[in-house]
Amino acid sequence: MNDRSTDTVLAPTIDVHLGSDDASKALREDVTAGLTTQPKELPPKWFYDERGSALFDEITRLDEYYPTEAEREILLQRAPEIIDLVAPETIVELGSGTSDKTKAVLDAARVRGTMRRFVPFDVSEAFLRTSAIDLAERYPGLVVHGVVGDFDHHLPYLPTGDRQLLMLLGGTLGNYRPDDRLAFLSAIASRQSAGDHVLIGIDLVKDVGRLERAYDDASGVTAAFNKNVLHVVNRELQANFDIDRFQHVARFDLENEWIEMLLRSDGEQVVEVSDLNLAVTFSDGELMRTEVSAKFRQPAFEAELSQVGLDPVAWWTDQAGDFAVSLSRQS
Ligand code: SAH
Ligand code: AVI
Repeated sequence: MNDRSTDTVLAPTIDVHLGSDDASKALREDVTAGLTTQPKELPPKWFYDERGSALFDEITRLDEYYPTEAEREILLQRAPEIIDLVAPETIVELGSGTSDKTKAVLDAARVRGTMRRFVPFDVSEAFLRTSAIDLAERYPGLVVHGVVGDFDHHLPYLPTGDRQLLMLLGGTLGNYRPDDRLAFLSAIASRQSAGDHVLIGIDLVKDVGRLERAYDDASGVTAAFNKNVLHVVNRELQANFDIDRFQHVARFDLENEWIEMLLRSDGEQVVEVSDLNLAVTFSDGELMRTEVSAKFRQPAFEAELSQVGLDPVAWWTDQAGDFAVSLSRQS
């Protein structure tokens, strides 16, 4: 065991590739496209301003939202095995959020003594800064190099090689639709060198009632999270969405095997988005999609990995079989 507890705490560095101008341009493009198409749709990345990130954090502690604790159970049990298999020098985490569960893997890596650098990557700058400071203090001697960016534009700013372990936890991959998911996985895989590994947490297909309750909790936190995108558009683009006139909807699509979150217009209404010079009509009961959250099965998921050139190495589930963590390797 390599005890690094006497190392000094290194101040984290944070690279911001998503400045406020870029974020504002991207939001304008997404809102213009999403509100002028049928059916209307807003991408889920816009949930995560400071309030949205805090609401997501609250979701992870809800009784109904099982994925977080199921994934934690797997990581706590399997982290030593994962680290023995990979012996990473650099660990990259995409969509790191608070990096709370990640600590199970970092603890195991510290014990083995190979880990030199941790690179959390997230679109949410406030959360990334807080967690980077927390991690640097928890792991003296560890280089914490945060990157603020968007999966769809800024993967090239991430380091490569170093027996890298790249992690994408929490089921975030499921927030991509199948075509985009394959493109995202392919972008990830193409950046890995031979011997690098990818660790992905995914939610599994299960009882529809449990799935729908996980996305429509009794205390209304998920509803507030869903509606937060309207607050973001109101604030950033001078829009006048009347938040109380949109209802949260979460339903499982049996054909696509994904949960979709939508906002249903309560009555006919016209929403003005001043910064875009846009007036948008919603009919009574019209549904606007804000997120899909795909649920997976092992054979199809591993086939997707193989399609992008990643070799499946291991597949672990929690004891209840609700959630899975997949380890794959670039050959
Ligand atoms: N990994 C954490 C957080 C999951 S929530 C967990 O398992 O609990 C999804 C995270 O991905 C959020 O922190 C959000 O800010 C980030 N995210 C969502 N879309 C993103 C995008 N397009 N680019 C970068 N980060 C994104
Ligand atoms: C981040 N992502 C994996 C969450 C999910 O379960 O799809 C976001 C979320 N949406 C509603 N609740 C949680």
